[in-house]
Amino acid sequence: MKRVLKILGILIGLLALGIGGFAAYIALKGIPTYDVNIPPEVASLKVPQDSAYVARGAKIATLLCNECHRGADGKLTGKVLPDIPVEFGTLASYNITQDKVHGIGAWTDGELYYFLRTGVRKDGTYAPPYMPKFPLMADEDIYSIIAWLHSDEPSLAADTRENPPNKPNFLVKFLANMVFKPLPLPEKTITIPDTTDQVAFGRYVADALCACFGCHSADFKTMNELVPEKSEGFYGGGNPMINMERELVPSANITMDKETGIGNWTQQQFYDAVKFGKTPGAGRCIIRCFRIPPLPTRK
Ligand code: HEC
Ligand code: HEC
Repeated sequence: MKRVLKILGILIGLLALGIGGFAAYIALKGIPTYDVNIPPEVASLKVPQDSAYVARGAKIATLLCNECHRGADGKLTGKVLPDIPVEFGTLASYNITQDKVHGIGAWTDGELYYFLRTGVRKDGTYAPPYMPKFPLMADEDIYSIIAWLHSDEPSLAADTRENPPNKPNFLVKFLANMVFKPLPLPEKTITIPDTTDQVAFGRYVADALCACFGCHSADFKTMNELVPEKSEGFYGGGNPMINMERELVPSANITMDKETGIGNWTQQQFYDAVKFGKTPGAGRCIIRCFRIPPLPTRK
């Protein structure tokens, strides 16, 4: 008996050492870096800098980028993010103005494309989970964002401010090493569905463009960015969120369930909710869906 206990003790000791060693390894390693493998057709990408792309990109950015990257004076110089759940510690977004040293002025279109899709920069550093990746977005929409990033919009004019300090804590480092990995580049061109096909177009807007499922499923840690419907509790809510009143709430169930979801809402109520944040109940969505100007048909 004594011997069994002794062996058990040694095993537990070894296990504790192993876990401790692993934790120390993650803490020291920090956010991982990866091999960069930009295919030639991406490396040579040149997005047309035309006004239709820039206008569409600007609208998409209003929806998806500005809230996080906008500093107090309205320029996109990054900031310490105020609404990050406390479990993730202190995190900051970066300067994405045209400055060639402190911003993204020196990035090529291909490097931006690779980063927005995969989360990996040209030097191999990986943007942790709170910088969203866009693996399912249509190519034309990514191009619009890139055209906008390189446009002469005042909020993006070159600004030499340093990136605010980013202090990923152990949980973020753990997630960035073990749970979230760089996402693959799409194998073929992704097109924007025809707007007259309401279901396909709606699915595109919700799952690929706005990633509504990320906030409105069970947890960021169990969402599936490549196959959204495999996310735990897909659209069933429950993900802890800071709402517009700055309270921590479980995100709303927006499935068509009549009791727990929004199955009893009229189309107009849904429209008012996502466009103006006006709902029959108390929930006000953080993001607002604006009409995104269409691109001219290309041959
Ligand atoms: C939820 C907040 C959030 C949103 C939304 C967001 N970002 Fe970011 N972004 C970040 C953070 C945080 C970083 C820094 C990541 C890091 O630590 O590596 C970052 C980094 C970047 C970088 C790299 C900058 C550099 O110098 O390395 C680019 C480019 C970028 N974001 C563009 C965008 C664009 C374009 C959008 C919208 C399509 C967007 N971001 C939306 C938080 C956000
Ligand atoms: C960044 C996180 C986030 C994203 C992305 C997001 N939402 Fe929300 N949404 C919230 C929060 C927070 C609330 C308010 C608290 C709550 O009720 O969930 C909310 C509320 C709602 C409500 C009101 C629910 C109710 O019962 O009152 C609807 C409808 C809604 N969102 C739809 C959407 C749609 C559609 C999208 C995508 C176009 C979307 N949301 C994207 C965070 C998000």
